[in-house]
Amino acid sequence: MSDDRFDAVFIGAGPGGYIGAIKAAQLGLRTACVEMRGTLGGTCLNVGCIPSKALLQSSHLYHEADVEFARHGINAANLSVDLKTMMARKDQVVADLTTGIAGLFKKNKVEYIPGRGRIAGPGQVHVALSAGGERTLTAENTIIATGSDVMGLPGVEIDEKTILSSTGALSLSKVPKHLVVIGGGYIGLEMGSVWGRLGAKITVVEFLDRITPGMDGELSRHLQRSLTKQGMEFRLGTKVTAAKKVQGGLQLSLEPASGGDSETLKADVALVAIGRKPFTDGLGLAEAGVTMDARGFIPVDGDYQTNVTGIFAIGDVLPDRPMLAHKAEEEGVVLAEKLAGHTAEVNYDAIPGVCYTWPEVATVGKSEEQLKEAGRAYNKGRFSFAANSRARSSGDSEGGFVKLLADKETDRLLGAHIIGADAGTMIAELVLALEMGASSEDIALTCHAHPTLNEAVKEAALAVTGKPLNS
Ligand code: FAD
Ligand code: NAI
Repeated sequence: MSDDRFDAVFIGAGPGGYIGAIKAAQLGLRTACVEMRGTLGGTCLNVGCIPSKALLQSSHLYHEADVEFARHGINAANLSVDLKTMMARKDQVVADLTTGIAGLFKKNKVEYIPGRGRIAGPGQVHVALSAGGERTLTAENTIIATGSDVMGLPGVEIDEKTILSSTGALSLSKVPKHLVVIGGGYIGLEMGSVWGRLGAKITVVEFLDRITPGMDGELSRHLQRSLTKQGMEFRLGTKVTAAKKVQGGLQLSLEPASGGDSETLKADVALVAIGRKPFTDGLGLAEAGVTMDARGFIPVDGDYQTNVTGIFAIGDVLPDRPMLAHKAEEEGVVLAEKLAGHTAEVNYDAIPGVCYTWPEVATVGKSEEQLKEAGRAYNKGRFSFAANSRARSSGDSEGGFVKLLADKETDRLLGAHIIGADAGTMIAELVLALEMGASSEDIALTCHAHPTLNEAVKEAALAVTGKPLNS
């Protein structure tokens, strides 16, 4: 066997590609992973999940010290932000984690091929090597894991100086006075939170009449109220139609989403966060005969195979699924299992989503809106963190709650929704409950340590069919 022959070649080393490649190698497949970025980990580790969470943590600490410490009797007067150090720490976290993947590749015998991959024909991947030169790989199975890219907005040209994508918003060299966020989704609210906590005035312009579409409406409204209290302004049902550079910043043209008179809004910086699009530039998909949909996503069958035998796709390039790192990872693992001849399946009903604002919002399974639309009868249990002793003692009780939705007849858990401190960590027990087909009674009968935030989950489960004990 020559060095260029592989059982599996993953193009892209984001959470889908790098995890899929490691799993494939662990299952005995001769595996390569081609990545053109120069570092491993894809959008998530380089310009997505990780740097944003590093800045969310730093800015949260600052906000705590600035606003919350006094309530605990801690005097933290004369606080200031050293943005350069904050950014350097974020960059170091990214560097540590991305280089860690190179170590994982070595350990698991995945060949990392730095360069740009192109599907050159059936079973062939051509790589323009980053170091210069070319290499043609023979691949029994080719996996497209090339992820997604920033979506632009006509009339609002991203220059990463005054009009930013999420990537620019992760690296500003000073705190803007007024940041207008276009799009009230995950990126807009997380990055708006970072810069708002550090002192910027934040205005979120959202096309729809609500933020975070897709999220259970009760949580969405609650989140908007919390963020408003923190000083964020919302312009719902509004679209930005143009951005003009003027003395000292930007002038944005706004219009009601349904049409009507336009108005102007001044800002020094704007962030375009209206969603992401699949990234397949230069992959040679048309030549290889791989079908894409009208928006450039790659449809696949139940085995992640595209319309071309031997060519598969996972992660953000797939249509009609959430663009999430852990979803991409699950698909990578399941595809590797399938390529190795095993049976495996992603349970798309049990993929959690977490918005890392303060409070955090974490959801899994069906929302109330989805259940109503499907005509599914359900019971609801809700428990507020205001009645949770741990939340009260840490000072994290402000308004959040746990909401569980269970089938009216069988009591099987259908959806779980949490808004509050550490919601992203707390949701794990409910993802497991969904996976195991648990009923609300199963959760209610499970002993939860005291005093913990998770006791609110148990109480919400008790509330589904009976009565909570602590409210
Ligand atoms: P990607 O991570 O996009 O990786 C694809 C890789 O393929 C890239 O490195 C690219 O360089 C490479 N590539 C593309 N074409 C080629 C080619 N021809 N040859 C070689 N290499 C190629 N998700 C969460 O779950 N939690 C979060 O907290 C979260 N936060 C986010 C914050 C931000 C600001 C952003 C932008 C995204 C965030 N996401 C988050 C989404 C998450 O980053 C993506 O869902 C995830 O990275 C998708 O993984 P992927 O493997 O499909 O693709
Ligand atoms: P998003 O889909 O979450 O939100 C985009 C928002 O922009 C929506 O509310 C939409 O209605 C609005 N919008 C669309 N066009 C508009 C326009 N012209 N004017 C005003 N508003 C408009 O997309 P976002 O925030 O860009 O994030 C991209 C992806 O990255 C998401 O799919 C998300 O899953 C992922 N992500 C996940 C995170 C997490 O898991 N914590 C964090 C950040 C991103």
